[in-house]
Amino acid sequence: MSEQDEPFGAISEETWQRLEQAAIAVRERAYVPYSGFPVGAALLTPEGEIVVGCNVENATIGATVCAERNAIGAAVASDKREFVALCVVTDVEEPSAPCGICRQVLAEFCDDLPILMINPHGQRRFTTLDTLLPMRFSGRDFLEKE
Ligand code: THU
Repeated sequence: MSEQDEPFGAISEETWQRLEQAAIAVRERAYVPYSGFPVGAALLTPEGEIVVGCNVENATIGATVCAERNAIGAAVASDKREFVALCVVTDVEEPSAPCGICRQVLAEFCDDLPILMINPHGQRRFTTLDTLLPMRFSGRDFLEKE
């Protein structure tokens, strides 16, 4: 089974809830005049810090940046490159998974990552980056050859 119903790993329920609250709060700040589909993302660092991101759309559509990638960008800019969990919030019945581009960007910084997908009404789905992007290309594939 690729999707799990319960929290897993070393992260406590209280920490998951902290991550959820951060993702729910940042979703309110999403800039979504074109899709009307706000997304919130919260990354947890090994030190227990939380870094958030929301989607920022653009009139070109193509220049839109997803919540997950904005969270990664904010984290790297504040000197954080290691993550132990991600929470993504969307307001749909079956909470959305990160898009393909975001999966690849998450893979740049994470070997694997527990991912909690939620909606603001209490629905939760758990998965992992390994499940969402198996057999992925990694910078390690060529860096290790030198
Ligand atoms: N979006 C995200 O923020 N994260 C994803 O993983 C999927 C899609 C955003 C992009 C766009 O602003 C809106 O959702 C609709 O695609």
